[in-house]
Amino acid sequence: MSEVAVIGAGTMGSGIAQVFAQAGDTVRLIEVSLEQLERGVATIEKNLGRSVEKGRLTEEERRAIRERVVPSSDVQDAEGAQLVVEAIYESLDAKLEVFRSLDEVCLSETILASNTSSISITALGAATSRPDKVIGMHFFNPVPVMRLVEIVRGIATSDDTYIRVEEQARRLGKEPVEVRDFPGFIANRVLMPMINEAIFALYEGVAGADEIDTVMKLGMNHPMGPLQLADFIGLDVCLDILKVLHDGFGDPKYRPCPLLKQMVAGGRLGRKTGSGFYEYPM
Ligand code: CAA
Repeated sequence: MSEVAVIGAGTMGSGIAQVFAQAGDTVRLIEVSLEQLERGVATIEKNLGRSVEKGRLTEEERRAIRERVVPSSDVQDAEGAQLVVEAIYESLDAKLEVFRSLDEVCLSETILASNTSSISITALGAATSRPDKVIGMHFFNPVPVMRLVEIVRGIATSDDTYIRVEEQARRLGKEPVEVRDFPGFIANRVLMPMINEAIFALYEGVAGADEIDTVMKLGMNHPMGPLQLADFIGLDVCLDILKVLHDGFGDPKYRPCPLLKQMVAGGRLGRKTGSGFYEYPM
């Protein structure tokens, strides 16, 4: 690709924009909130600055990568992109609206990808006139570090779209894995029940948060314990994904723990709010 657009400049969107720019693409980073757009660009600048300090990038490379990221608050600026990656918050209605607009704005050959962690790619495709060119490109946080991209094929996604997106993921230095479009795909279908079970263990008083996380870190070699990871992902995001699993499969094994619901209702969403299962001084 030579021109890519990323919709949404939150943690995931800014990370995705950074990795495409590092691979040599011009990236339109499009975000309606100017404050969020500034934060997203600042995160990219901070990450690139750290890479210069660590000797992984020269100053010249840093400048060139930064210049390839073009911030914008107008979705119309996606019109020249060959690939668009949507990375807004996890709401089906909001994503459907973005896909409808992109379908109008973009060239008919443009591939429209979503970074959704659990929403149906088939449903997003059906909101456009090009469901064969709609696909999931699910990155992991922190995007510049994590190697996996789940590539999710909706019911109508064509082989050609899949092959092109898989090539792009490899070009970014990522390892693509092909999955079909069922709730939570693979990553969250396996991860979220583990996190939910850890929250149930805490709720039932089996052990404290630190103890539960220590068991999984030292016993299973996970880099973060499940409660620490839930705080890192965002408890609201975890709850939304569990609801998608619960509704999608109709199986009570995915019911969100009442403690998770209570924490989200109380605005304790993890790292981003300074408080979750742990405290994060801001
Ligand atoms: N952005 C960019 N780079 C980052 C970063 C960030 N936010 N956070 C850490 N890094 C880099 C550091 O610069 C460092 O790079 P070098 O080794 O080149 O110096 C490297 O990552 C390791 O960082 P640290 O030494 O500071 O810390 P660590 O060794 O504890 O690693 C971690 C941090 C990579 C986040 C590690 O704890 C980890 O892998 N945690 C699990 C992350 C995970 O599971 N992510 C998936 C979440 S699920 C998801 O994203 C999808 C979903 O649908 C919910």
